[in-house]
Amino acid sequence: MDYSWQIAALGAPRTDLGSLPATMRTGAPDAIALHSGYPDPGLLPERLVRSAFARAARQEAALQRPDATGLSELRAWFAAELAATAPDGVAPPTFKDVLVVPGSQSGLVAVFRSLVPVGGVLLMESPTYWGAILAAKQAGVRAVPVPHGPEGPDVDALARAFAETGARAFYGQPTFANPTGAQWSPTVGQAVLDVVAKHGAFLVEDDWAHDFGIDDDPRPLASLDGDGRVVYLRSLTKSVSPSVRVAAVVARGPVQERVRAVAGAENLYVSGLLQAAALDVVTQPGWTAHRRALRQRLRERRDLLLASLAQHAPAVEVESVPAGGLHAWVRLPDGTDVAALARDCEAHGLLVAPGSGWFVAEPTGAYLRLGFAGPDPGAFGRAARILGERMAAAAP
Ligand SMILES: Cc1ncc(COP(=O)(O)O)c(C=O)c1O
Repeated sequence: MDYSWQIAALGAPRTDLGSLPATMRTGAPDAIALHSGYPDPGLLPERLVRSAFARAARQEAALQRPDATGLSELRAWFAAELAATAPDGVAPPTFKDVLVVPGSQSGLVAVFRSLVPVGGVLLMESPTYWGAILAAKQAGVRAVPVPHGPEGPDVDALARAFAETGARAFYGQPTFANPTGAQWSPTVGQAVLDVVAKHGAFLVEDDWAHDFGIDDDPRPLASLDGDGRVVYLRSLTKSVSPSVRVAAVVARGPVQERVRAVAGAENLYVSGLLQAAALDVVTQPGWTAHRRALRQRLRERRDLLLASLAQHAPAVEVESVPAGGLHAWVRLPDGTDVAALARDCEAHGLLVAPGSGWFVAEPTGAYLRLGFAGPDPGAFGRAARILGERMAAAAP
């Protein structure tokens, strides 16, 4: 078939969304998969999910259109989770502050669209989640990078960026960031809230890894915020099941109405069946036990991967041990052609994700993101050996 006529009809792309990055690829079935961002099914609360779906199928939720804002019990659960870490003196959120969305990816697009005018500036930690960079493009906003390290964003650079650009929003992941695993220290978190307040701006807090603490617990900044300054996203996609694509946006004040309108125009509502299943899972007593066991299993996997790298790929530098999350963010010797290395690793049976996709602007070094929550941790030793050998083969 000749579809060439479409080129003329479509014209230039409206935004340069590019193609999905390496993390979303399905490689050869026998390849060792360290590239993916999703946990292995063995790390999910399988029994809870299956019985939740069976129960949800028998509820009215399976047949009715839910309210556009979400099931009120699920909204109340999201609010209570945040309220649990709110200090005295800060009014905790209620279910009215919560909007259920079909995954936080669509939530990010709706939030960015609501906070930043088309062509306006959104400040973003860099490196940061590639999907947030994509969401910014999708929303037609200009992402401006703010550097960050193991303690969180560089607060002086953030203040300068606000002053220079006049931005009104900053996107960050205070808890076990994807890709670095960094957790903002309480001091940096407070300083970011202060800078954001000084510039009359919003903080978009993406709490994607709330359920993946290893050495530390999540400390959502939204629970410190009584002024409606933090727009908070929390996803259950990775911790409950990739098939329970349910997340929440928690926002207070007029911004909530904006986000609701934009998300509603995109999605109308989220499947009641999925919401009922999600609520069932997270309100079972087994959920707490599952999370406790998960912490230990993630710790074992993380430590095994890092030990394997130290043994078989000593040129790989682990700048900081992730305190939570699903990945290690590792640095390769300067000058490494990361894309070529990733291709060579794949040819030898190992899938890795080149770090360039996580940078808002130019990469500041040669990085890989290696997932420790994917299939078969028993293959981590072999994976590290392949990586070490391919790096040695590529060295001048
Ligand atoms: C930081 C971050 N935010 C948001 C998402 C998207 O999550 P969801 O599956 O809820 O769309 C991801 C998924 O990898 C992520 O890593």
